[in-house]
Amino acid sequence: MTRIALLGSTGSIGTQTIDVVQSLGDEYQVVALAAGRNVELLAAQMRLLRPELVAVADEASRTALIERVGRSTPIEVGPAGLLTVATVARAELVVAAVTGALGLPPILAALQAGKRVAPANKEPLVIAGELIMALSRRNGQPLVPIDSEHSAIYQCLRGEDPASVARLILTASGGPFRGKTRADLAAVGVAEALAHPTWKMGPKITIDSSTLMNKGLEVIEARWLFGLPVDQVDVLLHPQSIIHSMVEFRDGSVLAQMDYPDMRTPIQFALTFPARQVSPRRRLDLAAVGQLTFEPPDFDAFPCLGLAYAAARAGGTLPAVMNAANEVAVDRFLAGELRFLQIAETVETVMHQHEVQAASDLATLLAADAWARRAAQEVS
Ligand SMILES: NC(=O)c1ccc[n+]([C@@H]2O[C@H](COP(=O)([O-])OP(=O)(O)OC[C@H]3O[C@@H](n4cnc5c(N)ncnc54)[C@H](OP(=O)(O)O)[C@@H]3O)[C@@H](O)[C@H]2O)c1
Repeated sequence: MTRIALLGSTGSIGTQTIDVVQSLGDEYQVVALAAGRNVELLAAQMRLLRPELVAVADEASRTALIERVGRSTPIEVGPAGLLTVATVARAELVVAAVTGALGLPPILAALQAGKRVAPANKEPLVIAGELIMALSRRNGQPLVPIDSEHSAIYQCLRGEDPASVARLILTASGGPFRGKTRADLAAVGVAEALAHPTWKMGPKITIDSSTLMNKGLEVIEARWLFGLPVDQVDVLLHPQSIIHSMVEFRDGSVLAQMDYPDMRTPIQFALTFPARQVSPRRRLDLAAVGQLTFEPPDFDAFPCLGLAYAAARAGGTLPAVMNAANEVAVDRFLAGELRFLQIAETVETVMHQHEVQAASDLATLLAADAWARRAAQEVS
């Protein structure tokens, strides 16, 4: 029996995790749920899964949830509630699928409590990858990623000598604006940026995919998860999203992991690891797919990718600053306050204003994150 605490249960990854758990049968059980404000969906999940504990973002959501489900299940609130769910005694696996930096404290708490963590939430690894990896090594549990690219690499690396890896090749669909020039992007709006061609995801990651910041965050995520210098992590556009990533070894062999773009495959891999279980999802038919194509990314039209490499090379507090500035810039773009190209401009301005410090402890990283959020609000 694998008992799971699910952070971000009402989101894109959260709902798909529940779908996978249902398809896996009685051996997998969700024992605690954390969500934000979607109390309607959380109430339905509580009726389905009967968790022993849930958490919501604020008091208003707690009140609204009590109106729907009553008081028999404890309902925790806010950041403390996320920590309670992440460390609930009966869960051995924590699926981390809230968005952004919000997921960092519960991931650290879960690791400190000796849990196995499956992170979908990539921003915590960008902010504090070194701390997370050190904790994970200490508690002796594998950190099996849910992000499809990192799951692909994890699968390609199984049984291989880490010293034999030459480079990691992260594939990217290219998002809705692949092939557009910088000039074309000057006038694109929120609806176009949210129209991802191959993946259906939450709004923040969908905007990050349209700027290629998502790939930049993934480069840094890969650097920590797989312990390679960032210059051994390359990005390759692959519009069909069938190859989820590749590993090139020193003898020139390249291994790839393939499937249709369906997050339930990497979610299931992380839940059942180290075993593989039968899945009800459709099997890859390469003859029907027909063509797999590739092209290099355009660093000029999509400057966020270059900013992420720069942040990774500088290290210290700069990745945390870049991530926080990007979270604010994406929110401001979604609210209609910034134009599309101003997302990258805001991130770059804040990165230039920052004096990089060593990222030796959590307090320093969180202070840099808070500073960058204020600075990004002020960029006009
Ligand atoms: N979606 C994908 O296919 C995909 C793929 C790879 C990686 N990821 C990563 O996985 C993470 C989640 O992405 P997503 O697309 O699933 O996001 P999403 O659909 O926006 O879901 C976010 C989840 O976080 C919850 N949340 C928001 N604010 C909260 C708060 N203050 N307290 C507690 N919970 C809160 C939301 O709850 P409410 O909705 O109830 O407010 C929701 O359950 C991101 O880091 C993303 O980069 C996603």
